[in-house]
Amino acid sequence: MAAFAPSGLPMSRQILVTSALPYANGSIHLGHLVEYIQTDIWVRFQKMRGHDCRYMCADDTHGTAIMLRAEKEGITPETLIQRVWDEHTRDFAGFHIGFDHYYSTHSDENRALASKIYLALKDAGLIEVKTIAQLYDPVKNLFLPDRFIKGECPKCGAADQYGDNCEVCGATYSPTELKNPVSAVSGATPVHKDSEHYFFKLGACEAFLREWTTSGTLQSEAANKMQEWFAAGLNNWDISRDAPYFGFEIPGAPGKYFYVWLDAPVGYMASFAKYAADNGLDFDAWWGKDSKTELVHFIGKDILYFHALFWPAMLKYSGHRLPTAIYAHGFLTVNGQKMSKSRGTFITAESYLAQKLNPEWLRYYYAAKLNGTMEDIDLNLDDFVARVNSDLVGKFINIASRTAGFIHKNFDGKLADGVANIELVGAFQAAASTIAAHYEARDYAKALREIMALADRANQYVADEKPWELAKKPEAVYRLHEVCTVALNCFRLLTLYLKPVLPKLAGEVEAFLDIPPLAWEDAQSLFIRHRINAYNHLMTRIDPKSIEAMVDANKQNLEPTPAPAPARHAEAQAHATQPAAATPVSDTISIDDFAKIDLRIARIANAEHVEGADKLLRLTLDLGELGTRQVFAGIKSAYAPEALVGRLTVMVANLAPRKMKFGMSEGMVLAASYPEGHKGDAPGLFILSPDSGAQPGMKVK
Ligand code: MSP
Ligand code: ZN
Repeated sequence: MAAFAPSGLPMSRQILVTSALPYANGSIHLGHLVEYIQTDIWVRFQKMRGHDCRYMCADDTHGTAIMLRAEKEGITPETLIQRVWDEHTRDFAGFHIGFDHYYSTHSDENRALASKIYLALKDAGLIEVKTIAQLYDPVKNLFLPDRFIKGECPKCGAADQYGDNCEVCGATYSPTELKNPVSAVSGATPVHKDSEHYFFKLGACEAFLREWTTSGTLQSEAANKMQEWFAAGLNNWDISRDAPYFGFEIPGAPGKYFYVWLDAPVGYMASFAKYAADNGLDFDAWWGKDSKTELVHFIGKDILYFHALFWPAMLKYSGHRLPTAIYAHGFLTVNGQKMSKSRGTFITAESYLAQKLNPEWLRYYYAAKLNGTMEDIDLNLDDFVARVNSDLVGKFINIASRTAGFIHKNFDGKLADGVANIELVGAFQAAASTIAAHYEARDYAKALREIMALADRANQYVADEKPWELAKKPEAVYRLHEVCTVALNCFRLLTLYLKPVLPKLAGEVEAFLDIPPLAWEDAQSLFIRHRINAYNHLMTRIDPKSIEAMVDANKQNLEPTPAPAPARHAEAQAHATQPAAATPVSDTISIDDFAKIDLRIARIANAEHVEGADKLLRLTLDLGELGTRQVFAGIKSAYAPEALVGRLTVMVANLAPRKMKFGMSEGMVLAASYPEGHKGDAPGLFILSPDSGAQPGMKVK
């Protein structure tokens, strides 16, 4: 029989914890890290409490976006998702996110489990097939997801809006309502096309979902949100996509694939299935209908619908256990605003680490802001520097740096035989249960306030006792030993309480104090008659300059930087912002150099203005069998976009893609202009055209 703690939870719990699975088509950024840090702190806390807690995650790898991106890069989706998996796991390790298993949704286990769940739902009569009309790209032979269709808003007429909502007036609509739609993939005009789709009958699960959502599994804000959704009515959920699609084919439905969001949450299970097989755990004991373990999902508020409606319904009607809790957090803002690429506040995990910024500074700052609600949290960069320097270095580390040296120098590294100020140290010990309750409730902000209030008391004690003065008086040597021992008892307990947030620093303190890894129950013991190692400085202050450098590194240029041109004449390229120098002729190049440039005929399938750019047009170039390319060309001064659509031109097709503020530029269009320094009128820019009869994709030599 399980023993129960006063909270009503078993003394030793088995907890399976997940964070949302990040998409495999982007880098980890500081917004994502809110979630992974929040979850990691909770998991580390549970482990320190002695619970059997397993932290599962994976990359979310399926869908049209990933398929198209791989195609653009000329690699298979499998190669792309492997590369991103390597990057994601590197970034997470850099921030000390301690997954027990980090898998991929493109795995055999996930295919098997997703199929099994689908077939169970089908047996339960919860799948229906319906024919629907959708927008289809006749050039790419592809049904277009909403995000890949652009056109004019049906409500306000604003141009260049996505297929699902208007960024100008905020209207939401279906892509078939867009006026003058174009495919963002090829620039072609989409056509309506019928296709059979598979639907999960969510409406039939309403009674169960209504009951489940009020069972205490959700935060109150989330439960309220659910009531709104019920009031609006539950729509059946389209779970199929037509080929070509990177994902799993639906059993018994050739050419139909599971929509990425069907197999994504199953990825939680699949990650665990692989881990269980490798570690000798019983899968059914954790996922079976009668499982006694806890299942806790950490997510962002934007994906609540999937986790609080679809997922529990899928689990319930396929004969699995239900989540114990779904914890949603808010979104990150930086300096009070949405993360922005032009302001340099869309900060990647990689760029943070590249500046040699300590990941534990960010962990601490996020923890100080996280309170277990769905409110957004703000990373104010000035406050970040001030807060970390003052709390971690000024308050916490300070206690050890002002006392440890005396123990080493005057007492051969050995602590006193007892604790002289048991009132102070006892207060530190007594705080363990309150701090634990805050961590458990994910109110890390409160936990840290409590911990820093203790740090203030310890600092006050050291300031009052002045060990540096005691050290000057031979008759005070006994007192010096007592004071430093009290201070280091306080320091050890603060380290223990901060360990879920600062695991690496805690490890270094453990090495310095020469103690085994701190567990929560160690708060009840005293730290005496023990020999410690020499103190080495544990943490430096943040230099605000490295924050500036990080923001600069994330600022994406408005205009493209000229590519390192393989040969001078290539600088006549359309979007060179710096025209060639006034040399009459370029340096000569060999025929081999020239052969490196892959020039192709391209049809300008689409041309449009780029918001915020003075010189650029966004061109979609059709290269025939070679597919399509997006190129930003600095020709706005010379051409109206409408005048270009349909024309043939010449492009450099093997120029390395370059990331620009507005997106990737995947090549270069050739245009003629006088080099800089030319005397007389500069009549502008002229793009090149082939003679009639040339076809897109032809090589120019
Ligand atoms: N792939 C889906 C999740 C599938 S889970 C079965 C997804 N991926 S994501 O990469 O877009 O986001 C992963 C997690 O990071 C989500 O929980 C999301 O809410 C969170 N965040 C992404 N950007 C964020 C901020 N700017 N701020 C806080 N959290 C953010 O959604
Ligand atoms: Zn609009």
